[in-house]
Amino acid sequence: MHVHFATCARGLEPILAGELAGIGAADVEPGRGGVHFRGDITTVYRANLWLRTAVRVLRPVNEGHVPNTDALYEFVRSIDWSRVMTPDHTLAVDCNVRDSAITHSQYAARRVKDAICDQFRDRTGRRPSVDTERPMIGLNLHLFRNHAVLSLDSSWDSLHKRGYRPIQSRAPINEALAAGILLHLGYDGTAPLVDFMCGSGTFLVEGCWLATRRPPGLTRKWFSFYGWPDFDPGAWARERDEARAGVLAKPLFPPRGSDVRQDAIDFAVGNAKSAGVGHLVKVTKEELRKARPEPNEPPGLIVLNPPYGERLGEEEELIPLYRSMGEVVGEHWPGWRLAVFTSNDRLARRVKLPVVRQTPLFNGALACKVWEYKNG
Ligand SMILES: C[S@@+](CC[C@H](N)C(=O)[O-])C[C@H]1O[C@@H](n2cnc3c(N)ncnc32)[C@H](O)[C@@H]1O
Repeated sequence: MHVHFATCARGLEPILAGELAGIGAADVEPGRGGVHFRGDITTVYRANLWLRTAVRVLRPVNEGHVPNTDALYEFVRSIDWSRVMTPDHTLAVDCNVRDSAITHSQYAARRVKDAICDQFRDRTGRRPSVDTERPMIGLNLHLFRNHAVLSLDSSWDSLHKRGYRPIQSRAPINEALAAGILLHLGYDGTAPLVDFMCGSGTFLVEGCWLATRRPPGLTRKWFSFYGWPDFDPGAWARERDEARAGVLAKPLFPPRGSDVRQDAIDFAVGNAKSAGVGHLVKVTKEELRKARPEPNEPPGLIVLNPPYGERLGEEEELIPLYRSMGEVVGEHWPGWRLAVFTSNDRLARRVKLPVVRQTPLFNGALACKVWEYKNG
């Protein structure tokens, strides 16, 4: 059993902790920007396969006080790297620094790599080569207030890059954040899901994957743990096959989306197809005031990610839009829950329905909230 840290966007820690508990991780403890847990290599496979709200899954190797780059070099050299890898493994180092004497992350990453290569060269006469695309050993250096945590990165490419969204629409929401909002709202596919400002369809795809119990990592081609000395391809294949066998053929209620823009609809259709759920979600071009429930469907969840009006002058223009969101839901969607994700509190209050809960969540660097409203 090793201690691990799964990173996530700020605010999603409790959701990620719930996901980790669900895949059998031990000692799950939310921290800042991620969640600590204990587990063996199988837990690492499951985490990379199943976690919808994580960015990467790290296994810390060492931590310590690192006031300058020479100290960083010595800190890295003091680790016995033969316990982690051999000179035949390829290597890459990713580094993020904040509020530290070391400010240049690329230079810090180079010092880490040099310290490892120098240790191997001195001991064996050979040194690992660098592969930044698909390293067998991907390392993550996190430097915060001169405190360094050096970890093995089991994921390397961010887990939120699911691969179904090659085309970027305007202001799409990150996949992990969309999944996190749905989990936060308790969505599990047992009631209908509707997004009438669906843009590129992220809520619809993530919702469909959730409702059909499809793990987000199922079709991903590569994870950095494939290069780890203790990687067991048979055990990994078993985890993946078991997950694949559990995927439902279709959700109980196909997630539905609409948007006023034709290009958004085209993106949403294309993304749903590349996510393998093109036949399981419904998308139509429609102004939100025209959105109505389908005959005989039970009430469910409406989730909206409207424009935020961050630029000067925009807020005023958006008041009627937010107002009409509340009006259409109040008039035509009795019993449905409405959730709105926005950075703008003033606009969120223009939705004239009783607010049940507000939950802060970051969208990149932008402080946002999930606003939940009651409707009858
Ligand atoms: C921030 S984007 C949503 C992004 C989406 N969550 C995604 O992941 O791509 C807001 C969307 O609201 C749509 N929209 C704006 N006004 C609308 C209206 N009156 N009716 C329907 N859709 C509207 C825009 O076309 C845009 O696609």
